[in-house]
Amino acid sequence: METLGTIEQPIGLAVIGYGGMGSYHAWKILEQLSGKITLIGVYDIREVRQEAAREKGIYTFPSREALLSDPRVELVTVATPNDSHKEIVLNALHHGKHVICEKPVTIASSADLEEMIAAAEQAGRLFTVHQNRRWDPDYLTAKEILEGNPLGRVFNVESRVHGSRGVPGDWRALKATGGGMLLDWGIHMLDQMLTLNEHRKLLSLYAQLTYVTCDEVDDGFRVFCRFENDLTFMVEILTSNFIELPRWYILGENGTAIVKNWGRDGEIVKVSDWENRESVPVQAGVGITKTMAPRTNDTIQRYPLPLPAGDWLEYYHNIFDVIRCGAPPIVTHNQQRRLMKLIEAILTSGEENRVVTFAEGL
Ligand SMILES: NC(=O)c1ccc[n+]([C@@H]2O[C@H](COP(=O)([O-])OP(=O)(O)OC[C@H]3O[C@@H](n4cnc5c(N)ncnc54)[C@H](O)[C@@H]3O)[C@@H](O)[C@H]2O)c1
Repeated sequence: METLGTIEQPIGLAVIGYGGMGSYHAWKILEQLSGKITLIGVYDIREVRQEAAREKGIYTFPSREALLSDPRVELVTVATPNDSHKEIVLNALHHGKHVICEKPVTIASSADLEEMIAAAEQAGRLFTVHQNRRWDPDYLTAKEILEGNPLGRVFNVESRVHGSRGVPGDWRALKATGGGMLLDWGIHMLDQMLTLNEHRKLLSLYAQLTYVTCDEVDDGFRVFCRFENDLTFMVEILTSNFIELPRWYILGENGTAIVKNWGRDGEIVKVSDWENRESVPVQAGVGITKTMAPRTNDTIQRYPLPLPAGDWLEYYHNIFDVIRCGAPPIVTHNQQRRLMKLIEAILTSGEENRVVTFAEGL
């Protein structure tokens, strides 16, 4: 990709779609990135949202064409409903703009993604996706546990997000607009799983999609993934859970880690004496057990969770470095490809109720 402009020159950005997430991008850029990225304006198809932007002092373009034809706009963030991403991204690339697209970049088609990547390569422009949850504190904690190896060989990871409100009643509830939780929350949590296993191949998966509160699109799913080196990784997004399970549950040969929530309550418990297997029988229900008797404090040690710091603004700082200095993007085309293939396999598994295997690994 060719680099344009000097590093003293802020990048002019415009946002297409000034809804929940588009206004978040615009606000963050205005508040925290103005030295590197300047918000030129926004465009939303609905006048009520244009008016909302003007009330915040943000310039609104009269049309998408006007936004894309403005030479001050070098970079476009697309934050419209999922089904419109592909067409808008291609349109922006054809106008010579760099593009950040909200997730999912397309509604589950690798062919669409390839078309978008080819258009970006032909235009010599950045095309990337907003995977902001790579900076979530709970994820960074899980990442540090997996990379720092305090538990010994990890053989099981469970990543869950539970809500109790079903699918929101907007475009997220419609198939045609790319609704459903797999494409909404799933795409974040699956991206996290793949980035945690960047160098480990996915061998097979089995997925179940749920339709508890909605017939048209999934309101949740769970997928069991088997990676190389006997790692099982489960991702579960559900929206009918009035009692939540922990955000992360990680099992290693020598201990367990629990990250209970986004606020990172939790702990690591490690065995301090594996040899001491003696236990006395305890009452368990109507029976007794030695096998499942709880550990006594002399054979385990408790540790606080690591709390690494992270800053989502790094995402936009990287975008600046890519465009001005030719740095590699944090979210790459190959990562997007892998994620899209994973989503396709989950849909196949869910629809056909079968295990999907990847002969060469994914
Ligand atoms: N990364 C994240 O954390 C995150 C969080 C929420 C949403 N999102 C993503 O952001 C996108 C938008 O979601 P949202 O929650 O902001 O939805 P939203 O419904 O609040 O906003 C979408 C906006 O796009 C406008 N719009 C629709 N079609 C348009 C078009 N052709 N041209 C211009 N404007 C158009 C709508 O009028 C609306 O204001 C989705 O892809 C969603 O998946 C990402």
